[in-house]
Amino acid sequence: MNVLHISAECYPIAKVGGLADVVGSLPKYQQKIGMNSNVVMPYYDTVFSQNNAFKSIYKNTLLLGERVINFKILKLENTNLGYDLFCVDVPELLFKDYVYSSDDTERFLAFQIATLDWILSLKQKPNLIHTHDHHTGLIPFMMSQSFKYKSLKNIPTVISIHNAQYQGWFSHEKSHLIPSFDSENAGLLDWDGAINSLAAGVKCAWSVTTVSPSYMEELKQKANGLENLFSHEDTKCLGILNGIDWNVWNPETDPYLHKNYSKTSLISGKKASKKWLCNKFGLDVSKPLFTFIGRLVHEKGSDLFPAVFEKALNENDISILLLGSGDKETETQLETLKSLKNFNAFIGYDESLSHRIYAGADFLLMPSRVEPCGLNQMYALRYGTIPVVNAIGGLKDTVIDVDNKGFGICHDGVTVEKIVHAIERANTLYLDQKKYKQISKKLMSIDHSWDHSAQEYVNLYQSLIL
Ligand code: ADP
Ligand code: GLC
Repeated sequence: MNVLHISAECYPIAKVGGLADVVGSLPKYQQKIGMNSNVVMPYYDTVFSQNNAFKSIYKNTLLLGERVINFKILKLENTNLGYDLFCVDVPELLFKDYVYSSDDTERFLAFQIATLDWILSLKQKPNLIHTHDHHTGLIPFMMSQSFKYKSLKNIPTVISIHNAQYQGWFSHEKSHLIPSFDSENAGLLDWDGAINSLAAGVKCAWSVTTVSPSYMEELKQKANGLENLFSHEDTKCLGILNGIDWNVWNPETDPYLHKNYSKTSLISGKKASKKWLCNKFGLDVSKPLFTFIGRLVHEKGSDLFPAVFEKALNENDISILLLGSGDKETETQLETLKSLKNFNAFIGYDESLSHRIYAGADFLLMPSRVEPCGLNQMYALRYGTIPVVNAIGGLKDTVIDVDNKGFGICHDGVTVEKIVHAIERANTLYLDQKKYKQISKKLMSIDHSWDHSAQEYVNLYQSLIL
């Protein structure tokens, strides 16, 4: 079975969040179980593209409305990723040192059109096209509706929704940018009077998946305006829990750690990482270390962080360290909060520091209001760090509270009081060092590698391929 994943992000080439981690690892595991699963993504100006050789395998022009644009398909020469990587090179739109920007409608339309033009030219077509999020949500529409791609309409399509908050809206005035289609079917593009790339993907893909079963259910109640669509399309929707790359996220071999550790050397391994972190960030190593890693956006509850951290630090003898960036007002407030003795933050993006925090932290905070899956809590488990989470979406599917014979701290709802109460419960657990260490060890035995979920995708693909 030959499957192409089409995505805006893929680790280690270009990463903004968990989408990259998933697209960068799922195909590797699918290859392991005998599939020919590969990735198509935009060619950005990233450190990875500067340091790796690509070979041009296809060249053409695409039409974006009246605009004629040159593009190439580049194939990564080395095979170290464990799957083939194809990059769509549209120099004037995509080759930038960022992934997302304000002209994404044109950028990702060009990406999708170039990808389909290339697929059209292939002698051996893929057996299935797997698209991810709204950036590739128009592909199922174009494959089924655009006259140019008629010959692709029998290839099954899957769209995976990693985050339905972002939908790729644009005005119908730009519909001429989409390769021509029967205007009677323009309704397939529409939601509430605008073109909605995610809604079009949900309507036109053969199957829709979300990255955890609970999130699938939640979307019928709360989906940034698409609730009725998810209820209506229920029969073709399925929640499949994300896995994590067991080799990249492995405390025994992780090259970013100062001291590697296994289940048996967990205590000393974590101690070394914690010591390094506390030295670097001026924190007291004897206090329990609470951390946050991620995008500073409303979905993650980050607007409450300044108030939460201040109250939690006042009421508990703990330290807090944050790694993240996003909302500018929150960033400024967090910078100000650095004057507190037991708080520090690195405002920015740092892959190596994230690994060191998963290893050195005692607790990882995830008070998300929306969390389709969440990979951070799974990384925390793998590194023996206890997650403190709001029990929604994928967090509900992966974290069980200690009071229910589990291994994490769960709260129900996102308010300053609820998050601080959860931190207090975690602190109490930490003070019972025997219980804390037992749980920490237990975490490392929980298997969230892709092995199980990769097979679930294969079962889905098989059910779609005629
Ligand atoms: P989301 O995709 O919604 O941001 P996930 O939990 O699925 O959330 O994945 C986030 C990924 O991005 C994880 O790999 C996390 O370690 C990484 N990450 C987020 N922010 C940062 C940051 N500032 N520095 C380093 N890694 C980060
Ligand atoms: C999204 C979600 C996150 C999920 C990730 C990977 O960015 O916000 O919850 O883990 O995609 O699927």
